[in-house]
Amino acid sequence: MPVTKGPTTAEKRVRQGEGHALQAPRGTRDFYPEDMRRRNWLFDLFRKTALRFGFEEVDAPMVEHAELFTRKAGEEIVDQLYHFELHGRHLALRPEMTPSIARMVIARQGAMRFPIRWFTITQNWRYERMTRGRRREHYQWNMDVWGEKGVEAEAELLSAMMTVFDALGLARGQVRIRLNSRALLEESLREGVLASRPGVFEPLCVVIDKIDKIGPEAVTDLLRDEKGEIGLSAGEAERVLEMLGVRSLDEAARFAAPDSKALAELRRLYDLLDAYGIADEIPFDASVVRGLAYYTGVVFEAFDAGGTLRAIAGGGRYDRLAETLGGRPVPAVGFGFGDAVIGELLEDEGLWPRLERKVEDVVYAFGPDEMVAAIRVARRLREAGRRVELAPGGAKLKRVLGEADRSGAARVHLIGGDELARGVVKVKDLSTKQEHEEPLPAS
Ligand code: HAM
Repeated sequence: MPVTKGPTTAEKRVRQGEGHALQAPRGTRDFYPEDMRRRNWLFDLFRKTALRFGFEEVDAPMVEHAELFTRKAGEEIVDQLYHFELHGRHLALRPEMTPSIARMVIARQGAMRFPIRWFTITQNWRYERMTRGRRREHYQWNMDVWGEKGVEAEAELLSAMMTVFDALGLARGQVRIRLNSRALLEESLREGVLASRPGVFEPLCVVIDKIDKIGPEAVTDLLRDEKGEIGLSAGEAERVLEMLGVRSLDEAARFAAPDSKALAELRRLYDLLDAYGIADEIPFDASVVRGLAYYTGVVFEAFDAGGTLRAIAGGGRYDRLAETLGGRPVPAVGFGFGDAVIGELLEDEGLWPRLERKVEDVVYAFGPDEMVAAIRVARRLREAGRRVELAPGGAKLKRVLGEADRSGAARVHLIGGDELARGVVKVKDLSTKQEHEEPLPAS
């Protein structure tokens, strides 16, 4: 029997950490130039799309007061928070952007002209159990509309999301956006458990969201657990589970009141989606409820049709978040679209474009005496907006030409003793191999 106790798991981690300072923490990524080219290409597409839909870009700090993110509905995201105490403050790295956006809206609520349409591209942190496409940091493109009650906002957002799938080269049918309305579920429970305990709805949705992971029996147990906070009756739990199996609006009508507002909204939304030409890509699926507590209405999640990856994007309507955080009520709807899952899908489908380093001109001085002239040439070209690499003095010409070719440069500008004496620079076109001379800039 060992007399002294071995190190605790936490102690082991600290020790391991000491020896791993040269590794990025598990679940995080380094972005080398080739990774950055892909990231920028994807983010450019996000940005261009959002701008084309008339959205404006905003940003907020990556560190917020932890209490902005801590909620009581039992969401995973709260347990996954990267948080710490610093100088008596409890701070956290953002796990998502929505609470920060809400904070920004609330801060200027009186002076804002609604509706506002904002987008963000931000890094988020969640201490996740890692699977394919699920990481401890990820970037998310968010688009949110605040101050618009009607499903016109949902339709615009879904159209923007589809625009990106199309632009990425994914054929129609390769990605499906499954859509539901939490309001439909809420309506069906209004006369029952929600009449006396409306606060039950958020944890109820969080539990239902686990159905794929833990199965319908375990979900029913959690919904019915008398000691738990939800405590549905057997009849209610059964009805909820039955509703989750619904896959069309006509079928959903069986569960809804004849004057159901939620159903009427869904029908209107599908009419609009039809006008955008995307209704077929967005099947109704009552099992989609989403794992975040704050959603109140339409919710949606995009998946690869093969079903091999986790959700590519997800969002919905969250009309009560501003109030929950202490602001005045404002309707809101939006989505988050991660970079990691779509990256895996593009890889699987061979859809990443070839993204090369892009240098346009290389300037080369044969020796130190020509360096001043080379700098002037490079300066002029850069002032004209070209991407210019100034080859290091003394580098071998063969190597410089090879590098120039690899970096996609169109021209090499060569200055040797002879050129300097004659006040010219030799310009070689790398595709035609033709050469000509140009005067050296005087200063
Ligand atoms: P979410 O479903 O938690 O929603 O995240 C949105 C997307 O971000 C996911 O579909 C996924 O692509 C990506 N994502 C989330 N967590 C990870 C992770 N650990 N690793 C890799 N990718 C991840 C939200 O965050 C909401 N705030 C979205 C929203 C905006 N709703 C309304 N407005």
